[in-house]
Amino acid sequence: MIKLFYITRDYKYTAVCLSAIVFLFVCCQKQKDHFIDYIKISDATYLGVSELANALDVPWDIQFNDELNSLFVTEIKGAISRIDIETGIKKQIFTIPNVFHKRTLGLLGMVLHPDFSTNPFIYVAYTTKEGDAIYSELAKLTYENDTVVNSQLLLKIEGASGHNGSRLVFDNNKILYWATGDAHSKTHAQDSTTLNGKVLRLTADGAIPKDNPIHNSYVYAWGFRNIQGMTFTPNGNLMTSEHGDAIEDEINWVRPIHNYGWIDIEGYHDTPKEIEIASKSPRTEPIKAWTPVIAPAGLKYYANTTIPEWNNSLLLTTLKSQSLRVLKMNVGQTSIVKEDIYLKDYYGRIRAVTTDNKGNVYIATSNRDWNPQKGFPLKGDDRILKLSKIDFVPDHYLSAYKYDNTQSLTGKQLYESYCASCHKTDGKGIEGNFPPLINTATVQQDDKLIKTVLNGLNEEITVNNVNYNQPMPSFQFLSDGQVAKILTYIRSNFTNNYPAIDSTKIANYRNK
Ligand code: HEC
Repeated sequence: MIKLFYITRDYKYTAVCLSAIVFLFVCCQKQKDHFIDYIKISDATYLGVSELANALDVPWDIQFNDELNSLFVTEIKGAISRIDIETGIKKQIFTIPNVFHKRTLGLLGMVLHPDFSTNPFIYVAYTTKEGDAIYSELAKLTYENDTVVNSQLLLKIEGASGHNGSRLVFDNNKILYWATGDAHSKTHAQDSTTLNGKVLRLTADGAIPKDNPIHNSYVYAWGFRNIQGMTFTPNGNLMTSEHGDAIEDEINWVRPIHNYGWIDIEGYHDTPKEIEIASKSPRTEPIKAWTPVIAPAGLKYYANTTIPEWNNSLLLTTLKSQSLRVLKMNVGQTSIVKEDIYLKDYYGRIRAVTTDNKGNVYIATSNRDWNPQKGFPLKGDDRILKLSKIDFVPDHYLSAYKYDNTQSLTGKQLYESYCASCHKTDGKGIEGNFPPLINTATVQQDDKLIKTVLNGLNEEITVNNVNYNQPMPSFQFLSDGQVAKILTYIRSNFTNNYPAIDSTKIANYRNK
């Protein structure tokens, strides 16, 4: 700039140059200003995070459309909107009239027809209720000029008060896949003749494709509990993320007429009982499993060199562990070779993820749902955040999360890993869903307390005059020492003041 002054005596010219420089500076500054955070991926790659939308109510699915340069978004109470990714302008295009929303039920998965410009169809899966009966419906909506002009029900199956799936995805041959939950049933997932606990395969009009693996059946694969994410890799491999019970959340590589094990087998085939079951009739293991559980949700294959480190990865968002995970795949896209964890506990629960044609990544928070964690929702929740590569090195940034495996976990850490997602960090639970663990009869009684934690519980109980009837998972897999630490922690916190429980008591109970 100084040099400019010096060599050009033409002040008019200098003024023009100066204002151009100032303009560029302000412009870049403005671009930088709209980033709310930065993430370091490597020394060569940094991302800027910007807010595309806020004040949403549990955005469940987000899907990118190239032609409209927009994201389509479903919100759990029934709204479908289009958000222009350049301007951020959001237009609500439709509300599904008969959505039944409660807890995890409502308007869930969505996918756009792969040829949207000529086949402007939006496919959605949602919950409905007729009398006492709950259903999951799959519908095909016709989009025209920012509204829905026609709605056609393609398939209606059994639903329940939880475990209703329901991600949707198209393959390269324009065949539609619908991941359904087991609807809290003990038999559906292993019964290949019913439509729950399955991945179903349909034509774009909702018919059974002629080449389905079971003649005249929608069923493509089974043995699933509650799939919450689904995506294809470019090789045509179908990948799903799934909630385990108290243990073993999973990523599965879904292939035709494979049985993924639920309800007999959880996660890897690693207990004597599981090995025996799998030896009698073939079951397919997940390609990855997590214990303690992380509550995996949205899953999207990242096929772009914009963020080179993420190319050929599955992007996975999680609810309980509140993170974005990058699961690097092998060349054949059949296994996971590395896991990096970003944004841990930073934006709260993250439910949905997608990408655009430039390699930007979009994530949607879920802090207004039925189970927010301590300190959430944040101002502006729920939000859709855009992660894009930047060409400068920011002063402050977030880095990948590092596990600390060096110390053995304390009672508090164990409680927070295994119990707090339901009973909450303060032990207060959620009225009507998860009972409190504060000064209750069960917390005081050694045997009853140990029994509940080791065996789980599945009956209607009343605590402080409130009824509870959701299942409590079994924690049989924890060691005696771990159970003792957790119970001692509960008994000496949350204003409880009861004697410690030592590990011999747990061992004695198990040997009874
Ligand atoms: C997935 C949610 C979930 C998790 C995780 C969970 N619980 Fe529970 N818990 C429940 C539900 C639901 C009930 C009520 C069960 C029923 O009504 O049958 C319950 C009941 C209980 C009870 C009995 C309450 C009473 O007053 O009788 C105790 C004790 C308990 N849980 C302890 C724990 C401990 C300790 C952990 C961690 C090791 C844990 N829970 C993890 C959901 C959960």
